[in-house]
Amino acid sequence: MITKLSLSNFRSYSHLELNLTPNINVIIGKNGHGKTNILEAIYFISNIRSHRTRNDLSMIKHDSEYARIIIESQKNDKHNKIMSVIHSKGKYFSINNQSIKKTSEMLGMINTVLFYPTETTLFSDSPSVRRNFFDVEIGKVSQIYTYNFQTFNRLLKDRNQMLKREALDDILFEMITSEMIDVQIEISKRRFILIQYINQNIQAVLDKLLTQSIPINIQYKSTVVNQDRDALKISYQKCKQRDIQLKATQDGIHRDDYLILSDDIEVSKVLSQGQIRMVLLAIKLVIVDFIYEKSGIKPILLLDDVMSELDADNQINLINAIQDVQTIITTTETLNIFEKQNVNNIHIVNSHIRNEEA
Ligand SMILES: Nc1ncnc2c1ncn2[C@@H]1O[C@H](COP(=O)(O)OP(=O)(O)OP(=O)(O)O)[C@@H](O)[C@H]1O
Ligand SMILES: [Mg+2]
Repeated sequence: MITKLSLSNFRSYSHLELNLTPNINVIIGKNGHGKTNILEAIYFISNIRSHRTRNDLSMIKHDSEYARIIIESQKNDKHNKIMSVIHSKGKYFSINNQSIKKTSEMLGMINTVLFYPTETTLFSDSPSVRRNFFDVEIGKVSQIYTYNFQTFNRLLKDRNQMLKREALDDILFEMITSEMIDVQIEISKRRFILIQYINQNIQAVLDKLLTQSIPINIQYKSTVVNQDRDALKISYQKCKQRDIQLKATQDGIHRDDYLILSDDIEVSKVLSQGQIRMVLLAIKLVIVDFIYEKSGIKPILLLDDVMSELDADNQINLINAIQDVQTIITTTETLNIFEKQNVNNIHIVNSHIRNEEA
């Protein structure tokens, strides 16, 4: 869990020191006062990138030279201080004042699961968005997955380059194809495991969140999943001529998709906006459990503006569903449930913490 967040020149913050409690922390503030910026800073340390921008420099406060984020955390009774500096020359990370050489070493130090409302486009976006969505989650619990994934991308690029050439070096081509089959089997296995986990657990979570039950099932569509090596070799052999003609590898895990269904119809075509939001939230909550089960450590739940479209009953259901996870929620309004429950209310005004006594 995170015990403290310190920011210097990060987005709208010149300076911020924020103590966090182990359960629910609510950041309350008006539009544009700096709530999402706080979640973005935590997300950045966790994922070594922002969820809002690919341009790291945009996170540096205007007219400042660098931004700094420090997170103090408690993991298995060990206190850690994780720091990042974003500078025009690059981004730097350190753990307990030891600088990190490979950013991959940062992954897993702080695991977060973030919900933000616009991500509901996931259900109607292109397959690549869904692939990326689930890949990021699997990467949090498996460095091998990330490694295999990078290997696959490299092999795919090599294979496609070969397909574009006039003459094909058959021996090399078969070697690449064969290697590609091996890593794909591993990748699709892990994708399958995550989806199976979600399917087995999502109904119970949704039932906790919703007064009216919605059946949800995710179908993992892949030409690779549950196929053995020999079968895949045969199918790649069969498709070789087509791949040569089209000058690109047509089948493989780079074409996988996930159909998120309610009673066999894609949720984007059948559910209301509010229901879609709850389904996304339920997927995130199941992923929290998945990460916990696989890594032994509960990730931190970041919920950006989650309350605004929920009716009062669903708000209470949500708060009850997240009691045992460290959570940071942003909201524009103080809600009654936050007063009653044991939550840490933090009021933000113009990117400063408002002192309750003031
Ligand atoms: N690099 C930057 N330097 C200075 N200020 C910035 C920078 N990037 C963003 N901001 C400011 O941060 C503010 C937005 O903060 P944030 O997105 O956290 O708001 P919010 O409280 O989440 O609002 P909402 O309720 O509308 O979601 C804006 O006022 C914006 O001008
Ligand atoms: Mg916001």
